[in-house]
Amino acid sequence: MRRPELIRTIAELRARLAPHRRAGSIIGLTPTMGALHAGHGRLIEQARRDCDIVVVSIFVNPIQFNQAADYQRYPRDLDADLEFCAARGVDYVFAPPEEEMYPAPLDTCVEVARLTDHLCGPHRPGHFRGVTTVCTKLFMIVQPDKAYFGEKDAQQLAVIQRMVRDLNIPVEIVPVPTVRESDGLALSSRNLLLSPGGRRAAAGIYRALQAAETALAAGTREAAAVQKAALEVLAAHPEIRVEYLQVVDAVEMQPVPVVEGPVRVAVAAWVDDTRLIDNILWRP
Ligand code: PAF
Repeated sequence: MRRPELIRTIAELRARLAPHRRAGSIIGLTPTMGALHAGHGRLIEQARRDCDIVVVSIFVNPIQFNQAADYQRYPRDLDADLEFCAARGVDYVFAPPEEEMYPAPLDTCVEVARLTDHLCGPHRPGHFRGVTTVCTKLFMIVQPDKAYFGEKDAQQLAVIQRMVRDLNIPVEIVPVPTVRESDGLALSSRNLLLSPGGRRAAAGIYRALQAAETALAAGTREAAAVQKAALEVLAAHPEIRVEYLQVVDAVEMQPVPVVEGPVRVAVAAWVDDTRLIDNILWRP
């Protein structure tokens, strides 16, 4: 098992990737904030299948956290992440220190309007601006042919897809399905922060989404009725505090009153002091 090369600076990464690019290699990027789990594994494995060179970036991006405490307690374990990447044949891990990505306060940012108006957007002011800004920087630094994003963060995925379309960034965004624990909980680095009781309760989030799916499959089309079916499940779990549960169209991420095309039922909820998100895609 060959360890990936750990790269700390932008100049070094560019120098390493230049010969691969000249040789016509397909370069894949999986952007992450570390604390890698099987969900990231699925992104990396897909990149490994599609690309000649696989780069994983590991950077806990301060500008996408709207609460300092959340940033401080975000799990970090670079040694474990390097082992994880080695086992999946990653070529380069780009783990820059904060000063490398942000040597000075930014005067420039990238912001996607409209698609960020609902779901996580209003609850995490500045979050998507931080994500789109850092992803633009990563795309400029790595210049990947393909970049891999998980469907668990469906709004992030839609926002990134819109950003590369609007700005003509020459990268193909590859969506990768959500990976779940055996009880349905979507894998997330934040699951590590849950207490044992919170962890058990958190499975209720996916059961609520399944209730929404069952209602849709049974022919329910009013979004309010779909929401009600899901919220009834969550009401049985006092440990889960719902932040939002909405039915949105799957491309523009706008709430729909009636389901007429592909939708996502998306939820954000707090368990213990940890915010979890999940969603399902439904196509009529
Ligand atoms: O999904 C994440 O882990 C982050 O939002 C990302 C895309 C790596 C940007 O920091």
